[in-house]
Amino acid sequence: MSGLSDQFEQYEREALAAIAAAENADALEAVRIEFLGKKKGRLRDLQNLLGQAEPDQRPVVGKQFNTVKTRVATALEQRQQEVNRPRAELTAIDVTLPGQRVELGRRHPITQTIDEFKDIMGRFGFSVVDGPEIEDEQHNFVALNIPSEHPARDPLDNFYLAAAVTSTGGPVLLRSQTSTVQIRVMEQTSPPVRIVSLGRVYRPDTIDATHSCMFHQMEGLLIDRDVTLAQLKTVLSLFAAAYLGHDVKIRFRPSFFPFTEPSVEVDMLWGNDWLEVGGAGMVDPNVLTSVGYAPDEVTGFAFGLGIERFCMKRHEINDIRRFYENDIRFLRQF
Ligand code: FA5
Repeated sequence: MSGLSDQFEQYEREALAAIAAAENADALEAVRIEFLGKKKGRLRDLQNLLGQAEPDQRPVVGKQFNTVKTRVATALEQRQQEVNRPRAELTAIDVTLPGQRVELGRRHPITQTIDEFKDIMGRFGFSVVDGPEIEDEQHNFVALNIPSEHPARDPLDNFYLAAAVTSTGGPVLLRSQTSTVQIRVMEQTSPPVRIVSLGRVYRPDTIDATHSCMFHQMEGLLIDRDVTLAQLKTVLSLFAAAYLGHDVKIRFRPSFFPFTEPSVEVDMLWGNDWLEVGGAGMVDPNVLTSVGYAPDEVTGFAFGLGIERFCMKRHEINDIRRFYENDIRFLRQF
């Protein structure tokens, strides 16, 4: 029986070598016909030999035959897959394929607007300062001449923090306006002062196309001798023209803020309607006194502008919520 086993082995060795050597589908087909062909292949010759085995040996050699046949057929199938695979995969790197595109990120439109505002105000001689977003009542209200019974201090109109207090145990809140920074700057600097401060503010306002509960303001403060409301109007008009172009229409409407007297609201023409974009006025003498300035020696103006609304006007964005949805299709337009 060993003769038969040798023949199986020899057949398998030669078949596997021929399969490995076949470089393409045609060569492989010739190998298949030679070794596995049903009509006159070498496997068939081996099968014919099986009949010559002793009857008690037939189950053993039959099993050997089947094992060899399966191994050769499997090797052939694998090689067929290899020679049919596109060449690029075989060589792993195809230098003619296009590379992977590198996606460049962009700054958020509000960040871009903030940078541009700083740039414009810098050219007008204003330097940029920062202030904290978590504030005490002294800076958010008291020093701004907002008494405790004023509706602006209603807990329902502010985000008070339940889990924190000031070092002296007083309540803290997310600032509702950047005017807090006016106070912080004046507390630490003697006049003259010429600053802007840009950042986030928080109010539990009802959200709609022009209101968000978190938004950005640019605060401006100028303190010097003989500062006038006319200068305030000039600075704001020049600023609006620098950011939105000379055909922008701005109007000043008499208004009231506890920390400025007189006060104005700044509106911008938007289609056929006027949209409020900021508040401003001459710094109230009570505020100057509260920070230790002498109101009979210095005067000043202050303003607080809504950054989102200017950006919306520039880019014709009709809903403030677009800024905060993180929709990449929207953000990649800027
Ligand atoms: C103030 O916040 C004053 N601190 C402005 C000021 C500063 C007056 C210095 C005088 C001197 P007001 O609440 O009107 O004012 O807000 C100013 C601007 O912020 C608005 O004109 C508007 O453009 C923007 N704003 C107000 N609320 C929202 C909101 N919920 N969402 C988006 N923008 C808002």
